[in-house]
Amino acid sequence: MSRRARIILGIVAAGAALGPAPGLAQDEPAVAQRAAAGARVFGDRGCAGCHAVDGVGGGTGPDLARVREAPTLAGIGAALWNHLPQMAARMRARGTPAPRLDPWDAGDLIAFLFAIRYYTPAADPGTGAALFSGKGCVRCHQVRGAGGVVGPPLDGVGGATPIELTAALWNHAPAMAREMRARNLRRPSLSGPDLGHLRAYLGDTAAGGITQRVMHVLPGREAVGRTLFRDRRCAVCHGPDGRGGPFGPDLAAARRRDLAEFAAAMWNKAPRMAAAAGRARIELPRLEPAEMADLVAYLASLQYLGEEGSAERGAARVTSSGCRRCHSPAGPAPDLSGARGVDTPGGVLAALWNHVALPESALARRWPRLRARDVSDLTAYLARGGGGR
Ligand code: HEC
Ligand code: HEC
Ligand code: HEC
Ligand code: HEC
Repeated sequence: MSRRARIILGIVAAGAALGPAPGLAQDEPAVAQRAAAGARVFGDRGCAGCHAVDGVGGGTGPDLARVREAPTLAGIGAALWNHLPQMAARMRARGTPAPRLDPWDAGDLIAFLFAIRYYTPAADPGTGAALFSGKGCVRCHQVRGAGGVVGPPLDGVGGATPIELTAALWNHAPAMAREMRARNLRRPSLSGPDLGHLRAYLGDTAAGGITQRVMHVLPGREAVGRTLFRDRRCAVCHGPDGRGGPFGPDLAAARRRDLAEFAAAMWNKAPRMAAAAGRARIELPRLEPAEMADLVAYLASLQYLGEEGSAERGAARVTSSGCRRCHSPAGPAPDLSGARGVDTPGGVLAALWNHVALPESALARRWPRLRARDVSDLTAYLARGGGGR
């Protein structure tokens, strides 16, 4: 079996093994976080044949885990649209038929593409070793028998998933801060990349390829996370929707590119959160890794839906974005004010993707380019039933 076939099978198997997230009905709206199902779509529809994910997979198109702009639903939609002519050309060259997507497939695919971008790319153990001394971790922690004994040895902690590490740093932050104060040590701040390097140094045993690694990110369930966000009183400070409250900032505005940046933010802001907890007279919760995963899935969804579009602007963009070239009474395509099945993000993404099957001549000529903002507005316009209602 070729390497590529094994990768695709691996992605498909991992998707199948997880199935839909527990507690979510099959007919949940297309935008439900079903990234595991999206992994299966990614394999089934041949995307994995051309696209690597963090270095593993086809090399015809760009590595989709390494596209570095902050992931949002609309951003992913715009990227797909803008690259359609080139993708279609590659498919013709390889003799592979252009796959069609339905709204459910597309919704799952979005969740998958989102999750892999949220995943932290591989890092460098050498830099991690330098950070371990430079940031003073070595004064309290042993690795391979060398270092301080104030805290537990950290051998193998790098094999913890990013989620587990986030939970560990969060839960141990108060005790670590106490020990640091007792020793007059400055509490080090950490960046996202720092944490990636530290994990690599502490022994990243998650060698099973991106599929397995991505799965470490996936089990979080957005809906459960939303409930936890209230139950664990994050909402007391950050507001009911995480959009900012009396004691804490807007978490949707803080665009963290990946999980390591999120973990770093949770570490760096822990003292201020503790101070705010004092003022609000509440106790900060300890979190199990599974709970952290659910919270991350929820917080991620705040970003991944991106900014809300405006149907009014969308109506204007149908013209300014070149859609009317084809979607007009005299044109070859149906009038968009009557479009159906585009009332969910998955439906819109599927409709945009399905243009990949247009004849070469239609794709070649002055293909309109979309920005993420255009996609948000067009989505709002289409969801409202175009000009109709
Ligand atoms: C035949 C090969 C091929 C297949 C199959 C394919 N792609 Fe692509 N894809 C490409 C190429 C080539 C590009 C870059 C085009 C360019 O440079 O403009 C691309 C670009 C993209 C981009 C934009 C990346 C960026 O820079 O932001 C996304 C997203 C994407 N593809 C997703 C998908 C998805 C999802 C599927 C499956 C439904 C898929 N592709 C199937 C070849 C392919
Ligand atoms: C002043 C001493 C001190 C320093 C410096 C320190 N730690 Fe800790 N660390 C501790 C203590 C004590 C614990 C156990 C806390 C507890 O029981 O809640 C701990 C726990 C941990 C844990 C959880 C381990 C587990 O098995 O769950 C991790 C991960 C960790 N530290 C990472 C780091 C990193 C990374 C650094 C450097 C940026 C660092 N620590 C710096 C004292 C320290
Ligand atoms: C007592 C109030 C309070 C509670 C409860 C609280 N936070 Fe915070 N949170 C804050 C404050 C204050 C900051 C730091 C703001 C600053 O100075 O940047 C913060 C920062 C953060 C950040 C970093 C934002 C960034 O810059 O990227 C995240 C993520 C976060 N909180 C998540 C949570 C989660 C998840 C929970 C629930 C488990 C929670 N917070 C509970 C007050 C709180
Ligand atoms: C080069 C011609 C062309 C351009 C430009 C074009 N489309 Fe299309 N579009 C089509 C055709 C042809 C179909 C019908 C495809 C089919 O039958 O599956 C279609 C179908 C659709 C559908 C599904 C409609 C339905 O009723 O099922 C949507 C939504 C859509 N396009 C949105 C857009 C948007 C938004 C733009 C501008 C960003 C755009 N299209 C630009 C040719 C085009």
